[in-house]
Amino acid sequence: MKTILIRASNHSYPVICGPGAVGELRARVRGVRECSGIFVLSSPRVWRSCGRKVQQALGREAGAARPILFDDAEVRKNFRTVEGICRALARARADRGALVIAVGGGVVGDVAGYAAASYLRGVRFANVPTTLLAQVDSAIGGKTGVNLPEGKNLAGAFWAPQFVISDANFLRTLSDREYRAGLYEVIKAGIIGDRALFDYLEKNMRAILRRERRAVAEITERAVRFKARIVTADEREGGARQLLNFGHTIGHALEAAGKYRRLLHGEAVAWGMIGVVLMSEVKGNLRVEDAARMIRLIHSAGTLPNVRLAAGGLKSRALLKLMRTDKKSRGGQVRWVLPTGIGRGKFGQKVDEGLVRVMLTELGGASDALDES
Ligand SMILES: NC(=O)c1ccc[n+]([C@@H]2O[C@H](COP(=O)([O-])OP(=O)(O)OC[C@H]3O[C@@H](n4cnc5c(N)ncnc54)[C@H](O)[C@@H]3O)[C@@H](O)[C@H]2O)c1
Ligand SMILES: [Zn+2]
Repeated sequence: MKTILIRASNHSYPVICGPGAVGELRARVRGVRECSGIFVLSSPRVWRSCGRKVQQALGREAGAARPILFDDAEVRKNFRTVEGICRALARARADRGALVIAVGGGVVGDVAGYAAASYLRGVRFANVPTTLLAQVDSAIGGKTGVNLPEGKNLAGAFWAPQFVISDANFLRTLSDREYRAGLYEVIKAGIIGDRALFDYLEKNMRAILRRERRAVAEITERAVRFKARIVTADEREGGARQLLNFGHTIGHALEAAGKYRRLLHGEAVAWGMIGVVLMSEVKGNLRVEDAARMIRLIHSAGTLPNVRLAAGGLKSRALLKLMRTDKKSRGGQVRWVLPTGIGRGKFGQKVDEGLVRVMLTELGGASDALDES
C-alpha cells in the first residue's frame, strides 16, 4: 500500500492506493476533524460489487448502513441528480460538519463531489474510486461536475477531497471493456509524462490485461504519481495540467458524435491519441519510430470499436465543429497537446485544420483495415 500526497490550494490530501487500501477507511474518517456524520454516496451497481467491503471497513461508523444510491449512467450525470442528492442529504439532516464519501467510478465521484461542493455551500468529501479510470485519473485533482445538454462537464467546481482510497481489489468485478478503458488513461500518462511507465506497459501488457496483482499495483501507482505531480504543480489548469488533455480534444468530439453511447471515454481517448500521434509525427515533432511505438502500445491493450461506426460516420465537418466548442478551446481556436517523444509533450499547440481533416480520414481508414484483418 502506498500513500501519495497531493498539494491543493486549500489543503493537502493523501491518495492511499494498493490492494486492501479500503482497510484504511475507518482511520481516515476518524482523522477528519469535527465530523458530525458520514454520508456514503454510490450507485446500485457499484454498491452490489463493493458495498460489503466498504461497510466492513467502516464498521459501526453511522451512515455506512444507509448509503444514498443514485444511477451512475453518464446520461444521468446532470443537475437533476445533484438536486436529488442534496435533497437526500437535507432529509438525512447532514449539517456543515458532514463528510460525504463517494464510492464508485468517475461518474459517482464527479456527481457526488459536485453535490458536496454545493450542499450548504460546501461540505467535506472523500473519494473511494472503484474503476481503474477513477483510481488513476478522475478521483485525483479536485475537479467535480456534471454534463449539460450542450456538452460534457460544462458545469462544475474545484473541490478537493479530504482523502482518496484506491483499493485495487475493487477492480476485480470490473468488466474487461471498462478495465481497458481505464488502461488507456494509464497509457496516456506513459506517453505524455512517464517514460518508465511507458516501457513497463510495453513489456508487461499481458500481465496487466490478466490483472495480475503486481502489474496492476505498479501501473496504478505510477499513473497516480504522474497525475499527483501535474495537479500539484498546476491545480487550476493554467499550464502543465493541460498535458492531461492529450487525446481528449478528438476523444470528446468522438464521444459526442456517438451520443455518449457507442464509445467509452477511454476508448474515445485511445482513438484521439492515435490521431494526435499521427499529426505530431507529420508536423516533425515526433520521430517516426516513437510514433510507431505509441500506436502499437495503444493497440496492444485490445481491439478498439470501429471509430467510423462509433462516431456517426466520422464526419470531419461535424467533428471539427465539436472540437472548436470544446471547453479547452480559446476563441474557437483548438489548442493541442502534442507528444514530442516517449514521456514528453507540449501543450497549447496550433495545428492546421487541413491536417486535422487528413488525420480523421486516416483514422477511419486504419479502423476499417483493422476490422478486415
Ligand atoms: N474529474 C475528473 O478529473 C475526471 C477525469 C476523467 C474522467 N472523468 C469522468 O469520469 C467519468 C467516467 O468514469 P469511469 O470510467 O469510472 O466510468 P463510470 O463511473 O461510468 O463507471 C463505469 C461502469 O462501471 C460500473 N462500476 C464501477 N465500479 C465497478 C466495480 N468495481 N465493479 C463493477 N462495476 C463497476 C459503474 O456502475 C458503471 O456502470 C466520465 O463522466 C468522465 O467525464 C472525470
Ligand atoms: Zn480522460
